[in-house]
Amino acid sequence: MFKKGNLYFPTEKFRKSALANDKKIYQEAAKDPIKFWEKLAQQLFWFEKWEKAFVHKPPYFQWFQGGKINITSNIFEKNTLGFNKIKNKTALIWEPEPTNEKPRILTYDELFKEVNKFANALKKLGVKKGDRVGIYLPMIPEVMISMLACARIGAVHVVVFSAFSPSALRIRLQDTGAKILITTDGYYRRDKVINLKQNADDGVKGTKVKKVVVVKRAGNKIPWQKDRNLWYHELIKKQSDQCDPEVMDSEDLLFVLYTSGSTGTPKGTTHACGGYTVQAYWTGKWIFDLHKDSILWCTSDPGWVTGHTYTVYSPLLNGVTTLMFEGAPNWPTPDRWAQIIEKHKATIFYTAPTAIRMFEKLGTDLVRKHKFETLRLLGSVGEPIDEAAWKWYFKEVGKERCPLVDTWWQTETGGILITSLPGIGPFKPGFTGLPFPGVKVQIKQENLLILPPFAPGLLRGIYKNPKKYLETYWSQYGKKVYFTSDAAYKDKNGLIRIVGRVDDVIKVAGHRLTTGELEAAINLHPDITECAVIGIPDKIKGEVPVAFVVLKGKKPELKVKEELLALVRKQIGPIAKPKEIYIVKELPKTRSGKIMRRILRKLFTGKELGDLSTLANPESVEAIRKIIKK
Ligand code: WT7
Repeated sequence: MFKKGNLYFPTEKFRKSALANDKKIYQEAAKDPIKFWEKLAQQLFWFEKWEKAFVHKPPYFQWFQGGKINITSNIFEKNTLGFNKIKNKTALIWEPEPTNEKPRILTYDELFKEVNKFANALKKLGVKKGDRVGIYLPMIPEVMISMLACARIGAVHVVVFSAFSPSALRIRLQDTGAKILITTDGYYRRDKVINLKQNADDGVKGTKVKKVVVVKRAGNKIPWQKDRNLWYHELIKKQSDQCDPEVMDSEDLLFVLYTSGSTGTPKGTTHACGGYTVQAYWTGKWIFDLHKDSILWCTSDPGWVTGHTYTVYSPLLNGVTTLMFEGAPNWPTPDRWAQIIEKHKATIFYTAPTAIRMFEKLGTDLVRKHKFETLRLLGSVGEPIDEAAWKWYFKEVGKERCPLVDTWWQTETGGILITSLPGIGPFKPGFTGLPFPGVKVQIKQENLLILPPFAPGLLRGIYKNPKKYLETYWSQYGKKVYFTSDAAYKDKNGLIRIVGRVDDVIKVAGHRLTTGELEAAINLHPDITECAVIGIPDKIKGEVPVAFVVLKGKKPELKVKEELLALVRKQIGPIAKPKEIYIVKELPKTRSGKIMRRILRKLFTGKELGDLSTLANPESVEAIRKIIKK
């Protein structure tokens, strides 16, 4: 890349080789976005072509109405590169956490066969088109195989992040009514084996799950219920490695993925087969510049949307190699991630600002030992990347050579919607850049909005909750404008900078949580009268939660704090653990009784507290300040 003023551009060499390198696509797309997406969609394989590209019945809309498709056909037998060309090429490189274990490599042909075998096994268990299947798996190849097997037979996958607690799993299984759950005995995390089967057993209590399929990974001892547990390897043994794809309507559901919204309960975002496939394919191709020989390492766990789209679907649709790593990026050595890039010759590295800041903290000297000669592109996702982290990443990892795409999107959008394209630019540290061609964005009163025709991959609803769908996304600016809940502004070049969420969502190490769900967990404790949770800035994780609690009863404070930490872990998972719990006498409230979280936040940012006269108890603020200082 080269610098011109405060903007960066791809070099002539990069531009020439890039798949999208002509500014004209922006004009073409803006002129008629529907026609533009249609043109892109035509490159994929459809059993039957759509009748109408975009149908809008606010707040609902459809893409490629009447079209028939299967995402796995587009990955395998009908891949745009031609299946014969990719058959023997590596689809997946899987790097296990233990360094003495060998990576597992699957070619497209091998992956196809594994997917078909498991698809047939699921059919044998009675899974039919439209049925929801829970997937509670860590970063092992079977998470990908399971997702694809569901998609093959038209079942709707519901992946639940493996570090989520049994209660979090239960809510998702209950909401979707899944009858099958796929899990594992255990997996490695920093040398320890996590017994996931135990969590799965707790999580399925009170759900409709009839069978639990267990992948053998760590070989740890697990509880076993003969009548309802099945080993994955035994199940697929006798299955044929051929399985016809289910012909899916473009608008049929491909998956449900839960995410935190402004209230306490997670929302199941629903994604449709046709539109998602088109967006996953093209955003990956143009944003990561996926060439035949690309090796993409997206570090996200498939339990999050980033993993769905850019660890699994997008690279495979593009016929390139995807890299999946089981463990933590800094284990057993702080530069494990760097070693993996070099060992597997990754050409694209896509990770979160939290990870970047952690790599920097672990030592630039260590990073400088690595040349990263194979890398040609870097990506960032999940939270705003500050200028300092951007520059460090660009210099120390990208060696000032690789374009750095800062990609903005959400679980709801299914794929990236805002980022400058690497072959075109421009790039500016701290700015996510230009909307993807065909995406119309508007910023009104600092609110980031998306205008019709939105994007093919945008969510179609919240599972079984049309009211929440309408309220959350289509009520602030009317039924025709998608409200992102992010604040943003544009610079004079039209580049967009994301400021952050305007609701109670906090991003902890790039993971989406709401203060509401944490408060709900804390309020379950019998000794708590009331509580407030806020996100405060953190040097590495971006944001971390802290809790303020008012106690009743006589239990020692330390004991209550310990119990609260355990409670949050049990209700949500370790990622949600508050960094600090402050026991206070009262919370600042308005006269109508509303807790003023905004004021609590200001106590940490050093900002002026402003007018406290609307508070019923202004003196509470100083009392809390003293407690924080301690
Ligand atoms: C929220 C969505 C993006 C997929 C993974 C996260 C924040 C996301 C960026 C970025 C600034 C970003 C937004 C968004 N966010 N990407 N590049 N710059 N903020 O999906 O968990 O649904 O979270 O993440 O606040 O609304 P998610």
